Amino acid sequence: MVINLAKEVPILHEQNITETLRTENLEIDLFITAIKGKLGYDLSGYARASIKRRIAQLVIDENVTCIAELIPKLLYSRQCQTNFVNRLTVNVSELFRHPISFLSLRESVLPYLASFPRRDIWIAGCATGEEAYSMAILLEEVGLLNNTQIHATDINTDVLKQAKTGILTKKLTREDATRYQASGGTSSLSNYFSTAYNKYKLSQHLLDHISFSHHNILQDKVFCSAQLIMCRNVMIYFDLNTQNSALALFNNSLVQNGYLVIGEKESLINSPISNLLKTIDEAAKIYQRKSSENV
Ligand SMILES: C[S@@+](CC[C@H](N)C(=O)[O-])C[C@H]1O[C@@H](n2cnc3c(N)ncnc32)[C@H](O)[C@@H]1O
Repeated sequence: MVINLAKEVPILHEQNITETLRTENLEIDLFITAIKGKLGYDLSGYARASIKRRIAQLVIDENVTCIAELIPKLLYSRQCQTNFVNRLTVNVSELFRHPISFLSLRESVLPYLASFPRRDIWIAGCATGEEAYSMAILLEEVGLLNNTQIHATDINTDVLKQAKTGILTKKLTREDATRYQASGGTSSLSNYFSTAYNKYKLSQHLLDHISFSHHNILQDKVFCSAQLIMCRNVMIYFDLNTQNSALALFNNSLVQNGYLVIGEKESLINSPISNLLKTIDEAAKIYQRKSSENV
């Protein structure tokens, strides 16, 4: 029988690609199951493309040939377990990130929060602490630090350890100072830090108003009842359903008329809770809970 190779080859090629993708997806599912079983982190709600990119990077860094080879490392090496969690959660942060949010909080939200005898503020996904430090500085400047507790939480215990020290992961830069000024800062940013051995540490009386705790937005319940919740640049890594569950958790954690701040690139559009929140400042990504009903 004569085989027409010209027709057969592309089909075979396509089949190979489909098969490779199928195998790769299976490997990713196995990896996600292993992470959940071994470390209790459920990555299934994270955007698939983002998880895929991070796992692909792990394959390169760990010098293995495929995702399946990561699994024994994950199961049997404590060092790899910590390394993998650190690599899969993106822990980048900076002081006064997206300064117009802090400016809007200063001008439009904190005057209202001043009417409460005491305040609880929840920073969810705090990474190495810069957002909580910025909030403490802002509260100090508007005279609301006393009687305010900042609860900073994250899924990653390593970053929490770092955040608790109050020490910045890098030196204060001119860019930090510029963002602080753009947020309406009334002093000099360096006044809030002491320096020793080239390290910058947040003033102890500010740090005393922040508690750092482990909390997984996707698996744990309401962390506290808060007048203000900030969760920025975390939901961007979740798929749409998971973003909606996170938003429902935040809505249920806010007191009536409490405020929610999300990240610059995050949105409430397509969320079933968008009608429960009133937009205070779209550019600053600040919203206010309207009713006391839970979702
Ligand atoms: C890019 S950082 C954002 C830090 C800070 N919010 C900011 O905007 O500068 C994302 C943080 O979210 C944390 N995170 C990811 N998934 C989480 C989850 N399910 N629960 C709590 N924190 C989570 C990561 O560990 C990481 O520290």
